[in-house]
Amino acid sequence: MKIVLLGPPGAGKGTQAKSISNKYSIPHISTGDIFRKNISENTSLGIEAKSYMDKGQLVPDEVTINMVKDRLSQDDCKEGYLLDGFPRTVAQAEALDSFLKERNEELDTALAIEVPNEFILERMTGRRVCPSCGASYHIKFNPPADSKKCDLCGTEVIQRKDDTEETVKERLEVYGRETQPLIDYYADKNKLSTVDGTKAIIEVFRGICEILENKK
Ligand code: AP5
Ligand code: MG
Ligand code: ZN
Repeated sequence: MKIVLLGPPGAGKGTQAKSISNKYSIPHISTGDIFRKNISENTSLGIEAKSYMDKGQLVPDEVTINMVKDRLSQDDCKEGYLLDGFPRTVAQAEALDSFLKERNEELDTALAIEVPNEFILERMTGRRVCPSCGASYHIKFNPPADSKKCDLCGTEVIQRKDDTEETVKERLEVYGRETQPLIDYYADKNKLSTVDGTKAIIEVFRGICEILENKK
């Protein structure tokens, strides 16, 4: 299956992606995670991406599109993939469409996790992430069993640098301007499905599975 996850910062894309990727055995490709890995390894891509991410702005399309095309060309993507955080602009969506078309492939669905803005700030400021495997936790809604360590790999969880109130506000603005138009973009192509992301994590996952079972 080839799935795009849409939704504002803090919608729960990363949280749900881990479970979807497990259930359907497809790689979870998060552009944010790839950038963060490059930042931690101090690569030239990481240095460039950091200057945008710290401000809550988007990394330029050209950089991002080339990086994703490389990733999608790897062997583990042959049977499908789950894109989290890409596409984020119309130009990125068009690039993905031509990539698929060249291969005679089609997206199964663009799945939008809908969460209104008033939920977002509390989710973001309470978030903790695993710097090693990318798992997402929340101090109140989804704490790790040992409050400081990742359930999946035992690494100490940290707070993301762009999860401050000021940066979250900028990210929400950027989302509204650059990414929200993709909802219509995919609706026009009859590819859009939506799930209510305000419910408990496990219920959102149930909703997602219902949608995906009908796409298989
Ligand atoms: P990225 O890492 O993709 O960040 P984002 O889109 O802002 O999304 P988040 O990861 O913040 O939220 P999420 O939806 O994954 O939520 P999560 O599951 O963690 O991108 C970061 C930056 O990289 C961008 O700002 C940009 O600079 C750059 N970038 C990335 N991709 C790019 C691209 N394509 N083009 C250009 N630039 C790009 O959940 C959030 C919190 O809520 C957690 O604490 C979680 O435990 C909790 N939670 C989740 N679900 C629930 C629930 N149902 N109920 C209660 N709490 C919940
Ligand atoms: Mg995420
Ligand atoms: Zn981990």
